Amino acid sequence: MAFPQTRLRRLRKTDVIRNMVRETVVSIDDLIMPLFVCPGTNVRNPITSMPGNAQLSVDLLVEECKRLVSLGIKSVLLFGIPESKDESGLVACAHDGIVQRAIRAIKAEIDNILIVADVCNCEYTTHGHCGTIVDGDVHNDLTLETLAKQSVSLAEAGADIIAPSDMMDGRVGKIREALDKNGFYNTPIMAYSAKYASAFYGPFREAAESAPKFGNRSSYQMDPANSNEALREIEQDLIEGADIVMVKPALSYLDVIRRVKDKFNIPIAAYNVSGEFAMVKAAAANGWIDEERIIKEILTSIKRAGADIIITYHAPQMAEILEKEQQLKGI
Ligand code: PBG
Repeated sequence: MAFPQTRLRRLRKTDVIRNMVRETVVSIDDLIMPLFVCPGTNVRNPITSMPGNAQLSVDLLVEECKRLVSLGIKSVLLFGIPESKDESGLVACAHDGIVQRAIRAIKAEIDNILIVADVCNCEYTTHGHCGTIVDGDVHNDLTLETLAKQSVSLAEAGADIIAPSDMMDGRVGKIREALDKNGFYNTPIMAYSAKYASAFYGPFREAAESAPKFGNRSSYQMDPANSNEALREIEQDLIEGADIVMVKPALSYLDVIRRVKDKFNIPIAAYNVSGEFAMVKAAAANGWIDEERIIKEILTSIKRAGADIIITYHAPQMAEILEKEQQLKGI
């Protein structure tokens, strides 16, 4: 039936009807907040390009986690800024590494929190690349060794999920094997499977002090022009044992999220990255956009595209937005 029998506006008439037929709802349970931990005590180094975010020493990080949990955000993704760096990122594998210490401190004080540990070498290498350099490029198979070691060490510290973001071939299988061998067969892997060589990571590299000192990451991260290849990456990671796959960044890659959703039966995470966050903050600071509505629309679009989990620096603000909505509804 067509117009005038069909009138789609009938279901848009009131809030009650709109709420009833809404197809996509972002819940606080979908969100993961990324955090940066640095050495020292009582240290808070604000990240200029990411207003509201800061490098935090372990003590302040624990306080921040308590605040997040009180807002309803129960899951965090940790990145470390170490005391010192080395050629292969071995410092990231140490029992008392910066993230390992952070995990133990959080777990000692907060029970109901889920800690996702990022696994990569770029924050821990002197050259800023995601692995060991041989002949001017990251050596894939040598890098797998440190990634596996780092993963086991993070699991030992108490990480609930291991999230490799390096984009080496075969790392999910290697990490799965190492985790299993050490008794962590129940620790899931959230693989950054389709991770693009993106300019949207700019602010993060300031935050994590992880910018490459020479060249770029195009020999391991994906070409932004490709989406068939993203499906191959996902397929490989599934075969190797990934429990959750990720598409990153989110907004310029919503089509990729949708293709993955249509093709595979696996939870999908999307990373709403630092550059995406910074653009919203900059425009809002200028009074050019309605910040809260934009945040809600962005996160809803990522979920509508097919993401089950959204990693976002907007998480605490989104919690407040959702809380306000509940109050308005009188719930
Ligand atoms: C490290 C890593 C990066 C991000 C997460 N893990 C940056 C990079 O690849 O240079 C980006 C996150 C963000 O921009 O918010 N491999």
